[in-house]
Order: sequence, then structure tokens, then C-alpha cells
Amino acid sequence: MTDFREAVIDLGAVQANVQHLRRLIGTRHTMAVVKANGYGHGAVPVARAALAGGADWLGVADIDEALALRAAGIDAPLLAWLHGPDADFDAAITAGIDLGLSSAAQVRRAADAASRLGRIASVQIKLETGLNRNGVDEADWAEVLGLAAAFERVDRLRVRGVFSHLANTSAADDDAAILAFGRGIAAATAAGLTIDLAHLASTAAALRVPAARYSMVRLGIGIYGQSPFSDADSAALGLTPAMTLRSRVAAVRQVAAGAGVSYDYLWRAAADTVLALVPLGYADGVPRQAGEGAQVTINGRKHPVVGRVAMDQFLVDVGGHPVAVGDEVVVFGDPASGVPSAAEWGAAAGTINYDIVTRVGARVPRRYVDADAGTGDATGGQP
Ligand SMILES: Cc1ncc(COP(=O)(O)O)c(C=O)c1O
Repeated sequence: MTDFREAVIDLGAVQANVQHLRRLIGTRHTMAVVKANGYGHGAVPVARAALAGGADWLGVADIDEALALRAAGIDAPLLAWLHGPDADFDAAITAGIDLGLSSAAQVRRAADAASRLGRIASVQIKLETGLNRNGVDEADWAEVLGLAAAFERVDRLRVRGVFSHLANTSAADDDAAILAFGRGIAAATAAGLTIDLAHLASTAAALRVPAARYSMVRLGIGIYGQSPFSDADSAALGLTPAMTLRSRVAAVRQVAAGAGVSYDYLWRAAADTVLALVPLGYADGVPRQAGEGAQVTINGRKHPVVGRVAMDQFLVDVGGHPVAVGDEVVVFGDPASGVPSAAEWGAAAGTINYDIVTRVGARVPRRYVDADAGTGDATGGQP
């Protein structure tokens, strides 16, 4: 480690996770979701690793994220589905990015942009099936799909598919959404569209709801080796967590029984003890809300985090175990190697593993390795 904080990203794990999920799920197409800087792992290196693992589509939320992948030379099929009112459809169409469209206004805007550019925009229509975020309401399907079909007939748009997203609330809610999505596919066909791609499932439904698989699944959390379930961890799903958040002890201090620790004295030493200072804080993504149960590994042994997590640092009670400045600290990683998991940190902070990995801050350098290949550093540096 060159500095006192880093996130080590195992790209071999990402590739293997995609291969494993593809074998289990078996859809014709697999989209790797690399939005939000690849859930904090680095969108470009993760996208490359996922494509090497057999993903044939990439998915991001917005056009800027998609353009960044294109700027890095990634030319795989790519879908962006969340647009502000001024989103640059021209740039997306020019870069060959599929637009996920959620309204008649967006369909018109895409067709206008295509005609301005003298090109055909490739689009996928997002259908609302119960999540109540973006997506076309069922009452408007006939109108919006009909409009898209009309633009397809005059070579402004190519409607490649329809998609939606599940609420992951209950089996009954998923079933209702699957039924609604089926009506949406029928509505698209009735509008005269030939639907090549239909996709509804993200990692959770892709694994546990075969009826939601259709021709493609959109895999996010699973490719990073994290479980979307509270009743199955990464290992139970055959996945390897790709991110390890590491640091080094910056200071060691003896404190007497009764000593207050960090802001607000949320914790006081019950007996004389030794504290290790870890130079990572909420600016780096360590949740300030982390309470009981948050642990780190120092020199291969787990110790509790004590007191308030501050912006740049937090404290660990190492008791009587020998710890010195410079010793390695693992905040979370692959629990198979004896370190805390992102899910455990999520539980300790009242959140989920998605939030823990995605929030790792820009101040933490990402170092890319391929543990299986044993190469140490695969791509080096920042994405
Ligand atoms: C529309 C959409 N599809 C797929 C995903 C991937 O979900 P997951 O990370 O649970 O696989 C997300 C992530 O939130 C999403 O917003």
C-alpha cells in the first residue's frame, strides 16, 4: 500500500462473478450495471472485467456516465435510462448509446435529436410496473409505444426493447410486476414493434425469480460479489466480494478506564485499554452512523470500532493485543479471508452493502488487482 488508505478492487473476482452468474441464470444477454462509478469500484475497469466475464451489455443511469465509458474506448452496447430535462440526447445518439425512455416527451426528444443528426436513435422503452419511479404508466403504453412505432417507421428511432424494474418487496409484488410487464410486451407488439430485448430482473430476481429473466438480466450488486439478500451471503451465492477497503494504523494510544473517546463521548473505556487510530472517516465513506457491531481487522484479528466516526478518522479498541503504527487495517473485504464484510458494516450502520461499497469516497485511491492471476497490480492507478 503506497498510502494510508486504499480500496483494492479485484477485477478477476468481477470477471469470475459475471461468469458464475451467467452460468446460473442462462439468459441470452447479460447487462453489467456499472452506474455510480461501478458501485464505487471504478466504472471503466469494472466494465472491462464484466465484458471479459461474458456480459454483452453495460447499463448506467445517465448519459454522462455512458459517455465516460465511450471516452475510455469501451464500445460495447450500452443503455442509459435516467435523464434530466436537458439531457444531451444528441451526444448519446452520436456515441451509439441506447436511450431508455420513460415518456412521450422523451420519445419525441430522441426522434428530434435523431432527425437533427440524420441518424436512427436506438431506444428502449421503460414501462412502469409497480415501482413508481420513472417509466411509462400503463394507461399511456398504447400512446407512447404507438408514437415510438411511428418514429420507427420513418427511420428516426429503432425500438430495441422494453424494460422495467422490480421493487424487490415480496414474491406477490414481483408476480404482479411480471404480469404487468407481460401486458407491456403485448402492448409493444400490438403497437407494431418487434421486441428484441425485454428485461426486468436485477441481481435478486435474476437469481431467484426465473420468470423475471426474459431475454436479458441487469446485474449490479452480484457482479461486485455482494449479495442482494439478507438470508444468503456472498459465499452462499458463489460470489467473491471484489472490494477490500484498507488502511494502516496512524496512531496508538493508551487510555485509562473512564476516558471518553471521539466526538460526543458516545463511548467511554470500561477499563484501561489501547486505541488504534484509523485514518478513514465519513469523507471516505465509513458511515458516521456505524454503531454496535462495526469491526475492523488489524493484524488478522477483529476489533470493535468505538466512539463516533469522524470525517477523517475513527478509533478501534484493540485491548491487550499488540498493534503498532503502520499495521494493516481491513475495514471490509471478503469475509472468507476473515475480515468483516460490507454487509456487516451495512447492518452496523442501518444500511445495506450496496450503500457501503458505493459510498467509498474519491479520496480513497482504487488499486486494481487480479487475485486469481496473482499479478498483484492489474491496471494500476485510478480508473
Ligand atoms: C434500473 C436498474 N436496473 C438494474 C439495477 C441493478 O440492481 P442490482 O444491483 O440489485 O443488481 C439497478 C440498480 O439499482 C437499477 O436501477
